Amino acid sequence: MAPFISFEGIDGSGKTTQIKLLEEYLKSRGLPVIVAREPGGTEVGESIRQVLLHSRNTALRPLSELLLYYASRHQNLYQKILPALEAGCWVLCDRYVDASMAYQGYGRGVDLSLIDQLSQMVINQHMPDLTVLIDMEPALGVSRAKERNRHDSIDEGRFERESLEFYERVRQGYLKIAQDDPHRVRVVNGDQPIETLHRKIVSLLKVLKIES
Ligand SMILES: Nc1ncnc2c1ncn2[C@@H]1O[C@H](COP(=O)(O)OP(=O)(O)O)[C@@H](O)[C@H]1O
Ligand SMILES: [Mg+2]
Repeated sequence: MAPFISFEGIDGSGKTTQIKLLEEYLKSRGLPVIVAREPGGTEVGESIRQVLLHSRNTALRPLSELLLYYASRHQNLYQKILPALEAGCWVLCDRYVDASMAYQGYGRGVDLSLIDQLSQMVINQHMPDLTVLIDMEPALGVSRAKERNRHDSIDEGRFERESLEFYERVRQGYLKIAQDDPHRVRVVNGDQPIETLHRKIVSLLKVLKIES
């Protein structure tokens, strides 16, 4: 199986930017790679994404939100991620199970053991070899994300209405996850230039002997 890497961090922390750079880096070295994103990544998943991220969907309850994320993840894993890994292709995933723990668990207060149980059922032990957690002050992430959404005029702003306290709980949740699983989850500081962060992530691949 080829390497499976997930990227985590609050909105605006730079996940998509870094994934793109790592994808280009791997390609330049002749390695096959695909990018999977959450929610989404498959046809069913992209429809679920619309429901989850559209700002009009204020009635969505925390448990419904959680289940929709897992439905999207299940499709993504079996339709896209596993077939790619089995074919020897690297997979870079923009968010995965840790995001449910951080956002719905630590952020919204959904029972953590319920999320654990769902993860076991839905992903059936398929955990990433490495998770890059891009850590950042919520105020900085949120202002970057708002700026980006305005610029791209996409309505994925449902999370824009969240308070900084919410994002602080998510951030602390992510850091707790990293503390509990320090081999898999590596924390990098998101408040540094894009290129510096990219080099740091590439060096992680070497330290972990994922790529020589
Ligand atoms: N290290 C960085 N320094 C400054 N701006 C950045 C950095 N990384 C990303 N950005 C910008 O911040 C915004 C959010 O980045 P993005 O990669 O979309 O974050 P995420 O996918 O984590 O929500 C984008 O407009 C991006 O160009
Ligand atoms: Mg993104």
